[in-house]
Amino acid sequence: MIEVSGLSKSYGDYQAVAGISFSAQKGEVVGFLGPNGAGKTTTIRMLATYLPPTAGTATIAGFSVTTQADEVRRRIGYLPENPPLYGEMTVREYLKFIAEIKGVPRSATSKRIEEVMERCFVADVANKLCQHLSRGYRQRVGLAQAIIHDPEVIILDEPTSGLDPNQIIKIRQLIKSLGENHTVLLSTHILPEVSAVCDKVVIVNRGRVVVESQLSQLSREKSLEQVFLESVSQEDSVDAAA
Ligand SMILES: Nc1ncnc2c1ncn2[C@@H]1O[C@H](COP(=O)(O)OP(=O)(O)OP(=O)(O)O)[C@@H](O)[C@H]1O
Ligand SMILES: [Mg+2]
Repeated sequence: MIEVSGLSKSYGDYQAVAGISFSAQKGEVVGFLGPNGAGKTTTIRMLATYLPPTAGTATIAGFSVTTQADEVRRRIGYLPENPPLYGEMTVREYLKFIAEIKGVPRSATSKRIEEVMERCFVADVANKLCQHLSRGYRQRVGLAQAIIHDPEVIILDEPTSGLDPNQIIKIRQLIKSLGENHTVLLSTHILPEVSAVCDKVVIVNRGRVVVESQLSQLSREKSLEQVFLESVSQEDSVDAAA
């Protein structure tokens, strides 16, 4: 469902993403894990068609993120690092606006908005202006807009950042349930988050994939924590030796 091959992004001489390849199948939740500055957001923005790659290819549901961006956008839900909400709209108005843009049939819109507000725990702020939302609620409304059109592929950049512990648990459950019949790619720094919700982990460091593995495969051999520390420090020593 997501196929990434040699995807790269350079800023001048600096390679933020240096030839990333991985895949995600239907019904799979893939955790994109890595230290600060590893290239997660840059990769995600390229997959979401908001940033042109300097090299490599990526397809979503068979469509190229560069040459068929409109087809890709129709099939994805995307939660950016900072969800861009319209401050002057209430949460319900904003979701109605997004539903219209995303092509939700008019007759289904009201029911769908109430549904996603329940699922993302924002029904209690339906009539509040977006600009008055707390950080955690902004994040949850951001998630609601990402899934409102029931996209095949859901791409989430740090979906639980800024949430309180209770909401972290609930949103992880939501992501896990979305993964049953969607493809979900989520970035995170939190190892237990990957263990809790993901089927597969892709660890990136310095713009490269250092591990791509099913979680079930890992736990039989080594803990995720061991694998993460080893893969990231190995890369560091390679760099130090160079
Ligand atoms: N517009 C830009 N110009 C120059 N460098 C950039 C630009 N955007 C990102 N970078 C650099 O690219 C690298 C990867 O950044 P990116 O935001 O993708 O990392 P990340 O893995 O999402 O990190 P974090 O965990 O902090 O969110 C960083 O070194 C960053 O400074
Ligand atoms: Mg990031």
